Amino acid sequence: MKLCDITKDNYFDVVMLTTNEDHNPTVMERNLASNAFSLVEASFEERPIYTKAIVHDRGDTVIGFCMYGKNEILGKEVYSLLRFMIDVSFQCKGYGTEALGLILEEMKKLDGCKEIYLKITPGNTRARHVYHKYGFRSTGDVIDGERLYRLSLE
Ligand SMILES: CC(C)(COP(=O)(O)OP(=O)(O)OC[C@H]1O[C@@H](n2cnc3c(N)ncnc32)[C@H](O)[C@@H]1OP(=O)(O)O)[C@@H](O)C(=O)NCCC(=O)NCCS
Repeated sequence: MKLCDITKDNYFDVVMLTTNEDHNPTVMERNLASNAFSLVEASFEERPIYTKAIVHDRGDTVIGFCMYGKNEILGKEVYSLLRFMIDVSFQCKGYGTEALGLILEEMKKLDGCKEIYLKITPGNTRARHVYHKYGFRSTGDVIDGERLYRLSLE
């Protein structure tokens, strides 16, 4: 598995990925925005935001998407994993766990990245379980109805 830049050759595959059970992407899905929405959002963001395709080695199939970079949380500039998804056809096969390891390795290389934040919607116990395996813990804060999690890299 590898993380790849999004280019004119793979953006179609990325925007057609979905977490919807009927396999049809929608602008807003149950636990996160669509990949198309995220790519538009990243293009307007003034801070550096990284968007990557998660690509399976077998057949170079695009199976997921992530977006990370700096944002402001509770008045502080921090690094966050802003979006992370594995297409519904490929979930629960261990790919998300493997991909998260690659994402965290990339994020650790970012200038001054000593901690990583992310938000999880209530009831998303699968995502919480995967993040927990890598050491993310709840800060106790709730932002716009989502619980905030933090991973210390120190
Ligand atoms: C969350 C997500 C990225 C995880 O990727 P994945 O490929 O499905 O995850 P994996 O197969 O690597 O691991 C799933 C783990 O969750 C466990 N799990 C599955 N369903 C679960 C549930 N309902 N509650 C708790 N744990 C659950 C599995 O047993 C497995 O744990 P294990 O490896 O310790 O046995 C993926 O499911 C996804 O895209 N979900 C929709 C979008 C989303 O929620 N993104 C995160 C936004 S914060």
